[in-house]
Amino acid sequence: MSDVEQTLSIIKPDAVERDLQNKIKDEFIKSGFTIIKEKKIHITKIEAEEFYKVHQTKPFYNDLCEYLSSGPIFVMILEKFNAILDNRELMGATDPKKADEGTIRKKYGVSIDKNSVHGSDSSENAKKEIQFFFKD
Ligand code: CMP
Repeated sequence: MSDVEQTLSIIKPDAVERDLQNKIKDEFIKSGFTIIKEKKIHITKIEAEEFYKVHQTKPFYNDLCEYLSSGPIFVMILEKFNAILDNRELMGATDPKKADEGTIRKKYGVSIDKNSVHGSDSSENAKKEIQFFFKD
């Protein structure tokens, strides 16, 4: 059974660069999410490395951290019933080329790296990721 959950969402540099943040936020709101907290920030590479630590053994880790720290991002706490899975469904597959029609990554993603949005993949990671950006 689903429950009211919170998940961490990031609008990544490629989307902010194209001024897509309001369109993407509208997608969340239209899909029933409430934006509980949000802020626009520009993180350092060291902060990106800490955030994406789960991927540190992957070949794309360095590029991923360079990229997330390359420009401003929006970080948000999203809330709704079943937020974690529903957000992943709304975002679509990691690779925009493989994402279903109507998903955020299909509409706005450029490549597997520049895929416009990040969303927590589990309840445990949602808690960690929310805590990472919103410490209070
Ligand atoms: P995200 O959901 O933010 O989580 C990790 C990111 O790594 C992912 O989105 C992609 O943008 C990026 N990435 C780059 N290459 C790959 C890959 N081969 N497989 C998965 N993720 C990748």
